[in-house]
Amino acid sequence: MLEAARFLYSFVKGATPSILAREIGYRLGESQAPWPLPPARLMYTVISTRWAATFLDSGEKIVAAMEGALQFAGKSLADFNYILDFGCGCGRLLRHLPKYTKATLSGCDYNAKLIAWCEKNLPIARFAVNSLEPPLPYADGSFDFIYARSVFTHLTEEGQSNWFRELARVLKPDGVIYATMHGEQFFTQLSPEEQQSVRDGGIVVQLANEEGRNICTSFELDGYVRSHLPSGLHLLTFIPGLPQEHLLQDGYVLERESAE
Ligand SMILES: C[S@@+](CC[C@H](N)C(=O)[O-])C[C@H]1O[C@@H](n2cnc3c(N)ncnc32)[C@H](O)[C@@H]1O
Repeated sequence: MLEAARFLYSFVKGATPSILAREIGYRLGESQAPWPLPPARLMYTVISTRWAATFLDSGEKIVAAMEGALQFAGKSLADFNYILDFGCGCGRLLRHLPKYTKATLSGCDYNAKLIAWCEKNLPIARFAVNSLEPPLPYADGSFDFIYARSVFTHLTEEGQSNWFRELARVLKPDGVIYATMHGEQFFTQLSPEEQQSVRDGGIVVQLANEEGRNICTSFELDGYVRSHLPSGLHLLTFIPGLPQEHLLQDGYVLERESAE
């Protein structure tokens, strides 16, 4: 009964008249161009919405915010030649990248079902499945920009540290990483004790045994991230999350040190 109620709620959640009208258009295939939309169940796995309009609008807004963060650090998506979307899900962000860059695009995720859909439907990028733990199936120095949006937010302390090291390995010298974390804007999900521990420079991970799934959630502030970066990576810019839909997560622009 409870399961049925949850399932129904997942359908009605966020359904405004304009979102419903656009949904009908998309599902009738009128305005999916240039690439198809994922089935509702895959969108739900990745971002807990079944609405195509929310999937498209949030992706567009997040990529614009990522470009803004890069520009703040004196970079731009247009500067890069080889870009990796680490934890790409069903391509919510990748599908907007060709508006910003001519780079060769790659995406990877540990969920093979999401990657199978991307491979079949998004000819703009090459895709690969990786394991929950490193390594990635790429040679050292393969990319000049890697982004991980809402991925480290579902890793444990050890997972974050292993994946930062691995992303640094597949990044070229002087290459750039953009990663997001749950910071102040997510404190409502924490108990007062957990909030204090994060304020004191720690990390809180809820449901750590579900690492990689969205129900495993980590929370940390920039002090923690700065002091836990692997050697060879440094912080260029920190962009605190905003109290706005889809822009709540903190953004970090990191750079790999040049080869001597
Ligand atoms: C909240 S979703 C975000 C997906 C995508 N970045 C976006 O913004 O639409 C988190 C994604 O990270 C992926 N993920 C989690 N742990 C991963 C890991 N160790 N390696 C690769 N992908 C991972 C999940 O499968 C899921 O697709």
